[in-house]
Amino acid sequence: MGTLRDLQLALQLKIEELRQRDALIDELELELDTKDDLIRQLQIELDRHRSVALQASGVPDEPQRTKRQAISAEPTALDPSQLTDVTLNSYSKTKESRELIQRALLENDFMKHLEHGQILTIMDCMYPTSLTQGCCVIQEGDDGSTVYVLEEGMVEVTKEGKKLCTISPGKVFGELAILYNCTRTASVTALTDIKLWAIDRQGFQTIMMRTGLIKHSQYMEFLHRCSSTHYSDGDYIIRQGATGDTLFIISEGQVKVAQQKSASEEPVFLNTLSKGDWFGEQALKGDSLLNLFDLVVELVASKHREHSG
Ligand code: CMP
Repeated sequence: MGTLRDLQLALQLKIEELRQRDALIDELELELDTKDDLIRQLQIELDRHRSVALQASGVPDEPQRTKRQAISAEPTALDPSQLTDVTLNSYSKTKESRELIQRALLENDFMKHLEHGQILTIMDCMYPTSLTQGCCVIQEGDDGSTVYVLEEGMVEVTKEGKKLCTISPGKVFGELAILYNCTRTASVTALTDIKLWAIDRQGFQTIMMRTGLIKHSQYMEFLHRCSSTHYSDGDYIIRQGATGDTLFIISEGQVKVAQQKSASEEPVFLNTLSKGDWFGEQALKGDSLLNLFDLVVELVASKHREHSG
C-alpha cells in the first residue's frame, strides 16, 4: 500500500533528520566545552594579573584586607656584588622534562618575555622535588623563595580560603612573589602526590641579574670605544645633505635641530637635544647615507660661560 510505504519513508526521513540534529548538537556541545575551557583559562590569567596588580597598588581586593605590600618589577633581594659568589648548579633531565619546563616558562604570562638564554638557564638549574597529597606547597602571605613547574599531579590555588583554580602539569606557579618581590599572593596545596621542578630565589635572581650586568658591561665597553669630540657654540656638527657616517651622543650641552624643506626656504627649527640624546642614526640606518637635518651646537659656549662666571 502506497500510504504505508509513504509513511515508512517519511518516518525514515524524520529519523535521519533527528540523527543529523543530534550530531550537530554533539558538535556544538563540544565547541561549547572548548570555549568554556578557554574562558576558564582566560579567567585564571586575569585573576593572576589581578593578584599582582592589587599587591602593586596596595588596594585591598576585599574590604577586610588591610595588608599593603611594596612591589618592584626588579628583583632587588640579591646584592649584585654577591653574584660572583653564587654557583648555578645544573640538574640532568630527560628530553621530555626539558621540553615541559621550557614550554611552561614560555606559556607563563610573567616569564615568557625572558630572553631565550635565560629560559634555558632557568630550565637547566631547576631541581626535582616531590610532595604527597594534601601538602601545602605555598602558604599565602609567606616570603616566597621558590618558583615551581608542575611535572606530575594536580595542585589547587586558594586565596583567603576561596578556591581560585586547579593547576595541571606543564604550568609554572610561585613566580609572582619572586618576580615582584612581594609575599605569596595565594596558597597552593597538592591535590594528589606531585612531582615538581623547582628553582630558588637566589638562583633565579642570579640568572636575571647576570644577564642585565653582562649587557651593562657590553654597553660600557661599547661606549669606551667611542671617541669624544668638542664643538663650540654655533658650530655645525652635521649639515643637511652631507654624507653621514657617525652616531653622536650628547654628553654635555645642547644641540639645535633644523631642517630646510627646499633650497629657497629658510631652515625651520625642529627640536633641541640635550645630555643623553643622540643623533645621526637616521642617516646610518637609511638607504642613503645623506643627513636629513642640520644640527648646530647651541648654548654650549654660553653654558660654559655661566659655569665659569
Ligand atoms: P606566588 O604569589 O609566588 O605564590 C602563589 C602562586 O599562586 C602565585 O605566585 C601564582 O603562581 C599562583 N596564583 C596566584 N593567583 C592566582 C590565580 N588567580 N590563578 C592562578 N594562579 C594564581
